Amino acid sequence: MLISGRGSNMDAILAAIKSGRIRNAKPCIVISNKPGTAGLKIASEKYKVPTKVIPSDGLKGWHYDQNVVTILHEHGVTAQSGLVCLAGFMRIMSPEFIRQYRMRIMNIHPALLPAFPGLHAQKQALDYGVKVSGCTVHFVDEGIDSGPVILQKAVPVIERDDEESLSARILEQEHELYPEAVRLFCEGRIKIDGRRVSIV
Ligand code: GRF
Repeated sequence: MLISGRGSNMDAILAAIKSGRIRNAKPCIVISNKPGTAGLKIASEKYKVPTKVIPSDGLKGWHYDQNVVTILHEHGVTAQSGLVCLAGFMRIMSPEFIRQYRMRIMNIHPALLPAFPGLHAQKQALDYGVKVSGCTVHFVDEGIDSGPVILQKAVPVIERDDEESLSARILEQEHELYPEAVRLFCEGRIKIDGRRVSIV
């Protein structure tokens, strides 16, 4: 799992593994590009999952990502059997990384893609004036939040919403949706046909 901060989605996935809701999964390593984050503490203290900080240090693209691949391999996360979950990881993965782990990298985005990709998705939705937003779990491809959609959950926007309140309501759904997508993946129930993902 790759994180940069709070790690609440990571927490939800690890909780689902611990409780047995997700079977056939072993959390191998949590990597953060920032030291001292709340997520790292949760991973190591609450779940006893190994953690590693790989600082960005101005490294771009594959120069950074190759360090990630090394650590993933050291912990048994391979392109044949592994799953890499981006959970609030504030870096864009390089094409080289994506090629290695194609359709084995998931991300969660706090909007109903393809609407409002990129940063501040909840604010984008509010500013646009949509009445419904939500969250999306998708596979990661070379674009920004543009890979095949796995699961989505709609969240109504209410009149008195501000960025904080909408983000909080979406986050609640994220914590359901992401573990569910991981569960389906681990059960081998995700079928990909071009852009279309079906659950079998
Ligand atoms: C979430 O809103 C997620 O949708 C977005 O980044 C945020 C990460 O939060 N990609 P957390 O670190 O999982 O709490």
